[in-house]
Amino acid sequence: MSVNYEQNAMGVNLSDDDESESTGQEDYGIPPPKIRKLEENQQQTHAGNIESVGHGGDEEQPQPEPETGAANTFVVAHHYNELKEAGRKDRLKSKIFFMRNFNNWIKSQLINEYMGKIKEQKRVGDAIRVLDMCCGKGGDLLKWDKASIAHLICTDIAEVSVEQCQRRYQDILKRAENSKYAHKFTAEFFACDSTLVRLRERYKDASLQLNLVSCQFAFHYCFESLAQADCMVRNAAECLQPGGYFIATIPDAYEIMRRLKAAGPGQRKFGNDVYSIEFENDADELPIFGAKYQFHLEGVVDCPEFLVHFPTLVKLARKYGLQVLRRSTFAEYYKETLPHGRHLLQRMSGLETVQVNRVANDPEYAHLKHLAGTNRGKPVGTLSKSEWEATTLYLVCAFKKCKNTWDANGKPLFEFED
Ligand SMILES: C[S@@+](CC[C@H](N)C(=O)[O-])C[C@H]1O[C@@H](n2cnc3c(N)ncnc32)[C@H](O)[C@@H]1O
Repeated sequence: MSVNYEQNAMGVNLSDDDESESTGQEDYGIPPPKIRKLEENQQQTHAGNIESVGHGGDEEQPQPEPETGAANTFVVAHHYNELKEAGRKDRLKSKIFFMRNFNNWIKSQLINEYMGKIKEQKRVGDAIRVLDMCCGKGGDLLKWDKASIAHLICTDIAEVSVEQCQRRYQDILKRAENSKYAHKFTAEFFACDSTLVRLRERYKDASLQLNLVSCQFAFHYCFESLAQADCMVRNAAECLQPGGYFIATIPDAYEIMRRLKAAGPGQRKFGNDVYSIEFENDADELPIFGAKYQFHLEGVVDCPEFLVHFPTLVKLARKYGLQVLRRSTFAEYYKETLPHGRHLLQRMSGLETVQVNRVANDPEYAHLKHLAGTNRGKPVGTLSKSEWEATTLYLVCAFKKCKNTWDANGKPLFEFED
């Protein structure tokens, strides 16, 4: 049965946000979250409402605090270590089955986009090396396989996940052995906290030059403290070759704040049937680092997370020679990449196929009402309202590693393009 994906876009379009340009917080009709200057943040004073860290040069770059406040990493590691992998049957029954596939498709689109750029810069046969930071159970292994990379480094704080990831890789190798033409890539695996440990020192070859660093649905854990964010960004940047990319999917702090405000004065919690977010503190007292909330996602996540203040991330990234290239909400990225990603979306079951008249009275599909009667009974691809609300909490971002020279003190001088 073929699905009309032209109508998917309309069907799935629950938010007004994706009509706007990808310019940041103003698009959400709210002022940016009020943040403190980094110096004040370093002193861990929690009085809000101070200006942003500005756009200045290297001398203004944030510096990590001497002490880290990594109190939550144990909780996070424990949560992911204990998480049981659902079988196919349970996955099919899950209320977020299509959303998880949709998220997976977004990751594929992002990986393919930047892998394409890397390949453009290279000659055929040149080795491509990738770091999958916070790899989890290896949900992206097949994507790396398909991208014909030469070497992969997988690391995650949860040892159980890393072991599972390694087993999946062995399975891929075994399958490749049975096929004369299958692609083979080497890989290394280790468990560690990317917000506290210098990853380079754990690589088999510390001089390794990477082409791509990918951190999917995990980077936000480092915004617990400046020291952790600094460590994670350095891990993302320091082994990237000039012209290499750092790509990530993270919760969109502006969207989270917009929804929190919409929940009403004094509210600390919002969500729906499939997800919830609950803040520890009042919204007007949130710091740049350690802006903690409890994130719950039906059957998969129940963990403390931290808002990622994007302008601060951009500044930290510059400190390590990473220039921001893209910040697009999932809704924007979906709209932008659907024209060339439609078939993959269909193959990955990234949308649910529904008959408009059959769901006409279901509030989860109220956004399809306008198609009733105009659709000649054709099926439409969509996500339920709850799933769409959950997936549009996220954004994709991409950074490029700049070339550098060195000053007399051995400090890198990056050649940013702006
Ligand atoms: C939502 S899962 C995403 C996994 C994988 N990237 C994916 O897209 O399928 C988040 C992952 O981040 C890992 N993680 C959280 N904090 C971490 C840290 N400080 N260092 C390394 N990994 C971390 C968790 O163990 C978990 O596997």
